[in-house]
Amino acid sequence: MSTFGKLFRVTTFGESHCASVGAIIDGCPPGLQLAAEDIQVQLDRRRPGQSDLTTPRNEKDRVHLQSGLEHGVTLGTPIALLVRNEDQRPHDYSETDLYPRPSHADYTYLEKYGVKASSGGGRSSARETVGRVAAGAIAEHYLKLAHGVEIVAFVSSVGKIHIPVTDPSAVDDADNDDAPEPLSAEYRRLLSTVSRADVDAHLTRCPHVETAERMKNRIIRAKAASDSIGGTVTCVIRNLPTGLGEPVFDKFEAVLAHAMLSIPATKGFEFGSGFRGAEVPGSVHNDKFSKRPDGSLGTETNWSGGVQGGITNGEDVYFRLSFKSPATISQAQETAQYDGTPGSLEARGRHDPCVVPRAVPIVEAMAALVAMDLLMIQKSRQAATALLPPITTLPPTMVMPPKRS
Ligand SMILES: Cc1cc2nc3c(=O)[nH]c(=O)nc-3n(C[C@H](O)[C@H](O)[C@H](O)COP(=O)(O)O)c2cc1C
Repeated sequence: MSTFGKLFRVTTFGESHCASVGAIIDGCPPGLQLAAEDIQVQLDRRRPGQSDLTTPRNEKDRVHLQSGLEHGVTLGTPIALLVRNEDQRPHDYSETDLYPRPSHADYTYLEKYGVKASSGGGRSSARETVGRVAAGAIAEHYLKLAHGVEIVAFVSSVGKIHIPVTDPSAVDDADNDDAPEPLSAEYRRLLSTVSRADVDAHLTRCPHVETAERMKNRIIRAKAASDSIGGTVTCVIRNLPTGLGEPVFDKFEAVLAHAMLSIPATKGFEFGSGFRGAEVPGSVHNDKFSKRPDGSLGTETNWSGGVQGGITNGEDVYFRLSFKSPATISQAQETAQYDGTPGSLEARGRHDPCVVPRAVPIVEAMAALVAMDLLMIQKSRQAATALLPPITTLPPTMVMPPKRS
């Protein structure tokens, strides 16, 4: 369906070749100071036509706030966000009237709905993500003001070119339990310090200087060959309070996986130490507790990715997801038409040779929507409990001991 979230509910609308795209947010807290620029900054990072590495489709993607605000303050009523589609070229899709594009959504959308939008895959187009990014920017704005939450995503690989994640000097002997840590100290430092400015310093949105250059060349090579290439995006969320996530089915990482795998072209999701974490023994992987300067408990390592039992523990949340190589390529592909006739498809139109540089703000937006919704759910639970008279009869083992600084 087109709605995400339980208390901060976002419904997106629109497809590639209709009049406008956008979102309606129901449940945004009233009293939030909000300017169009708070939203526009993320839409500009998602916008097509940003560089030679992305589709040349030229959309300004100016957001129009239609409702839910007065004098720059949210009213608590539905916020409608609208962005006009201006640079549509439906005629670019005439071949795809005959051919379903291999690995695109043309065939499955037609099978499911029985009618075909001019762009073929309809709402599977990345134009739909405009609404997510606009709504996510509002959620992020709230999270920043309320809790100082920071969300930073970056490109961690393109094709086979990765930011180095493990220590190059570590010996990886498959039969030896002394496996290297899942992520090197350098990579962990990158995760805890990387900023959006670091990310945007490179067209590829990879903050690792040497890798960024190689990635750029890889995307240019794919484009020159009328081909495409995939990649991965890593994201870190800092300063989340403890207690977010609704076990058992709506654990923090489960909702995050749902949100992330709803982004077009995603193929894999890895949380915390992820698949590499399965290679090290518990004695290496366990995140031992220690006292933070403020007296609260923290962990010395963070292989859990800031979540245990589906609930945030106050450490950074981090995860990675993979995006496939975009399906639409202008190289001839031997395939079949809708009626089964074999033929060759050379897709026209303007397409991304690699989606990951533009996926970065989409990942940040979905992370913000998850964090916002789970924060509101936890805060409403706590507010309901706070209305009750205090209980003085609980044994001390049932309550958290007071912090000792
Ligand atoms: C930012 C972004 C840009 C995209 N650009 C294109 C594109 O130019 N051409 C294309 O074929 N697919 C593109 N996609 C992917 C398609 O939207 C998606 O792969 C396709 O609809 C099939 O859906 P699926 O891969 O999720 O199964 C893009 C995805 C994202 C996130």
